[in-house]
Amino acid sequence: MAKPKSFSCSSCGASTSKWSGRCDGCGEWNTIQQEVPLSAGPAKKSLGAKRGTSIILSDLSTDEAPPPRTCSGIDELDLVLGGGLVPASAILVGGDPGIGKSTLMLQAAARFAQNGLKTLYISGEEAAAQVRMRAQRLGLADAPVKLATETNLRDILTTLESERPDLVVIDSIQTMWADNVESAPGSVSQVRAAAHELTSFAKRRGVSVILVGHVTKDGQIAGPRVVEHMVDTVLYFEGERGHQFRILRAVKNRFGPADEIGVFEMTGRGLAEVKNPSALFLSERGTPSPGSVVFAGIEGTRPLLVELQALVAPTPHAQPRRSVIGWDGGRLAMILAVLEARCGIPFTGLDVYLNVAGGLKISEPAADLAVAAALLSAREDVALPAETVIFGEISLSGALRPAPQTENRLKEAQKLGFTRAIAPDNGRAGGKSGTNGGMTLTQASDLTGFIGDHFGAG
Ligand code: TYD
Ligand code: MG
Repeated sequence: MAKPKSFSCSSCGASTSKWSGRCDGCGEWNTIQQEVPLSAGPAKKSLGAKRGTSIILSDLSTDEAPPPRTCSGIDELDLVLGGGLVPASAILVGGDPGIGKSTLMLQAAARFAQNGLKTLYISGEEAAAQVRMRAQRLGLADAPVKLATETNLRDILTTLESERPDLVVIDSIQTMWADNVESAPGSVSQVRAAAHELTSFAKRRGVSVILVGHVTKDGQIAGPRVVEHMVDTVLYFEGERGHQFRILRAVKNRFGPADEIGVFEMTGRGLAEVKNPSALFLSERGTPSPGSVVFAGIEGTRPLLVELQALVAPTPHAQPRRSVIGWDGGRLAMILAVLEARCGIPFTGLDVYLNVAGGLKISEPAADLAVAAALLSAREDVALPAETVIFGEISLSGALRPAPQTENRLKEAQKLGFTRAIAPDNGRAGGKSGTNGGMTLTQASDLTGFIGDHFGAG
């Protein structure tokens, strides 16, 4: 009798017994793939039928010192890792093809190796000569990194077992091939099996592994989301191809804060750190122009000033365009709806373009007010006063909510030469406007008041 096939969703991991175009679990399209079990064979009796050995329980308290971390010396990377590399940790580095993952990982491997870690770099994508040429170009040809090009997971594990490195970089997880799994490299089962083998090896043998993974069009690490659950740390390397700036963002970190970012610049000699990124995403500042607004944001633990640009123009189409880069399209729709429903400012018949300068992606709700200001400024063709930063969250009722870390945002803006800030009333400054360490702070409690103050009656 033929074995029943099983399928699983590469997005949410749900399993089904038949293929379908759309996953019932998460509603994603084209994510169902055939699953081959790790060990083939008929299902065994229930686990409760045979006694296992009892596991050892322990207390939460410990006398052990926290494991010593190793720093690469690339400060932006060490920061995102939560203060350096934790021994025996598993890290997934995801990003679009061509964004610079291999470059960053080769630089990191070289620096970790120079700092005393026995480091292996295993490439399944490029020939050894190619990797060597890149190392040469990056000035890292002398770094004590051991290089191999291999995709056979069994051979890799055997080598790791005998070499016992401190750190191994696998570039990329999609090219790895486990011979006990029948499906093709890059399939859900292969990626899952390879990630499982490598992360459990990491824990068992005290080796840190860095898995490089490509993301698909819609921003997921190709293959199952479950890889994200298997590892300790998930870092995304993002940026726009046309821009030279790259952001390394911790989206999950068992050993440090998530949401921390590191900023790099792609140069002719690899990725260079950007030590003080807060002014990076501001374009040339001259006379303020309509549609352009500076948002005082926070990324991870660091304040970051970003320019938002909006363009609003009559549409020639029946359906006006809503185009957004670096910000969530759904959130833009929400702000447009609030402006229309609560403040009587419609955008019907108008195309709306919103862009975050410099290729940065922002997801903070605190950018709402800055987005609204950019849209209004573009629509009314009125520039906001120069040297002004804006931040604050907008609720569906049109009320404004204070953003966390107001002080940090103001301090950073002041450091960069801004003199005025517009933010929601946080009930502390008392009154509509006041000065806060040299900054003039204009407060607003709702969107209508904000519009009245800065754009006339709207
Ligand atoms: P790569 O690290 O191969 O990307 P990924 O592994 O994410 O697919 O980087 C590819 C791009 O980086 C490539 O288009 C060339 C560019 N690059 C530089 O601009 N400078 C450099 O020093 C290097 C090594 C690459
Ligand atoms: Mg690569």
